[in-house]
Amino acid sequence: MRLEGKRALVTGSGRGIGRAIAIRLAREGAEIAINDLHIEGEARQTLAEVEAAGRRGILIRADLAHADEARRLVEEAVRQLGSLDILVNNAGIEKRSPFVEVSEQDYDTVLHVNLKGAFFTSQAFARHLIGTKRPGKIINISSVHEELPFPGYASYCASKGGLQLLTRDLAVELGPHGITVNGIAPGAIATEINRSLLDDKPRVERLLKQIPLGRMGKPEDVAALAAFLASSDADYVTGSTYYVDGGLAWHYQE
Ligand code: BGC
Repeated sequence: MRLEGKRALVTGSGRGIGRAIAIRLAREGAEIAINDLHIEGEARQTLAEVEAAGRRGILIRADLAHADEARRLVEEAVRQLGSLDILVNNAGIEKRSPFVEVSEQDYDTVLHVNLKGAFFTSQAFARHLIGTKRPGKIINISSVHEELPFPGYASYCASKGGLQLLTRDLAVELGPHGITVNGIAPGAIATEINRSLLDDKPRVERLLKQIPLGRMGKPEDVAALAAFLASSDADYVTGSTYYVDGGLAWHYQE
């Protein structure tokens, strides 16, 4: 177990990739603050699996589209767990729409949750670590679309592109405090975020042809990398984004 005695906050961990990360970090020995917009139902299942791994878990509701909620989330996690060592900025949403039809409201929702939420949660977490003079690890769950265009998802691309450079900037600003900052860029992972894709068989078949490893990813594929980046095995790793995409991003076909 690589995370014995550590405490981690995983945003958006009620389901999907966030849930798999929360469970994997717990299996590696960490206590987990589980956050989601709703903490009834699905988030309780994450909690049950964290507890089944023999670790303490707490549930905190927060809407990360608002900076004050992000700050309250970190304060509450610190109050209940005593301190934090690891932050996984995983909460994210996407909205499909042709660029020329994107509304201001949809743009704001996507940018606020995916980018502003990660920004101010990281700020509160960094203040906590600097204030208590302790090192720590920030892991930003981005997407292959921090690099690759995704037609029909311009606001999502803008948010993930922002997250890419936020990762690099924070690695430089927070490195002197012993805080590492890395990104994970998942490709096509089978979760609820792409339910419309999963329900569209011809689209899935076209997608699978573009994935050299020939399958969609599992949340656990992403969680395994998060466990490494959260551990002391990755103490000298900062400022980079790691792809978990079965080879999708670099597979160009004529
Ligand atoms: C998106 C998915 C998409 C995948 C691969 C992810 O970031 O959330 O909707 O299927 O990228 O394109």
